[in-house]
Amino acid sequence: MRGIILAGGSGTRLRPLTSVHSKQLLPVYDKPMIYYPLSVLMQTGIREILIISTPEHLGAYRSLLGDGGRLGIRLEYAVQDQPKGLAEALLIGREFVGDEQVCLILGDNIFYGHGLPDMLRAEAARLDGCTLFGYPVSDPERYGVATVDEDGTILTLEEKPTAPRSNLAVTGLYLYDNDALDLAAGLAPSARQELEITDLNLRYVEQGRARLVNLGRGSAWFDTGTHDSLLEAATFVQVLEKRQGIRISCVEEVAYRMGYIDAEQLAALGGELSPSTSYGRYVLELAGAA
Ligand code: DAU
Repeated sequence: MRGIILAGGSGTRLRPLTSVHSKQLLPVYDKPMIYYPLSVLMQTGIREILIISTPEHLGAYRSLLGDGGRLGIRLEYAVQDQPKGLAEALLIGREFVGDEQVCLILGDNIFYGHGLPDMLRAEAARLDGCTLFGYPVSDPERYGVATVDEDGTILTLEEKPTAPRSNLAVTGLYLYDNDALDLAAGLAPSARQELEITDLNLRYVEQGRARLVNLGRGSAWFDTGTHDSLLEAATFVQVLEKRQGIRISCVEEVAYRMGYIDAEQLAALGGELSPSTSYGRYVLELAGAA
């Protein structure tokens, strides 16, 4: 399975924070936002990942993450010229995905949950069609909203409905079989001239091949689309990290725990981060080098 992180868009709702910066590089407490979705893919066992961003900002992602070799993964980069919709990621990534399955994640979505990596690996292994991940929210009208039967098969799916049929928001994490590439190529632009991810997912719903897994109470999900949700996500990470003495979505740690790099490589990464930062010390201690 290949991974795609979509980290483009115009970030209008976060201006002036995003007047010159890419939204998905903004800090979420102690690390850039993109570390969170990148960790999710790495923990799912995906080591070949395409990062898509705007022509202005793609270079910054490349400077930050390079070819991924230092994390034991392979990163490629591609431009989305205009924000023409989330489903366009599958057209841009077509060649990169080839004949594999694909996991698409939005660069501004933050997931946290103890059992999440195991669950994602299990869902990737049983994928047939598409699998979406739902999260109960109090304001479903802001999101894609699904209803499901008792087996998790999606019955209805609507984008930002004025009268939501459930409180299950569809998060920005999508598992697709290879059909998604052709299905995305056949989509027509919506009224707002975008290739909508919900329209793609509806193709699978029509075929009865769309499943939704409810992330439920044991996990946290943030879409950092507003100033408040950005701050809430940062505060959540801060509280958990300080209280438990752990780091959430520390990509160096994930690479090490997944066996993508060894302790020596981890120590080298910690050294580069500098022992004078608590993040750097954490990485060095993990490597047994501090
Ligand atoms: O966060 C989950 C929600 O994401 C889902 O519940 C919705 O079904 C889905 O449509 C999407 O809704 P948003 O309102 O959050 O979509 P937005 O247009 O804000 O785009 C999400 C992110 O993707 C944002 O960080 C910008 C980036 N983006 C967006 C578009 C349209 C791109 O990189 N390229 C694009 O063309």
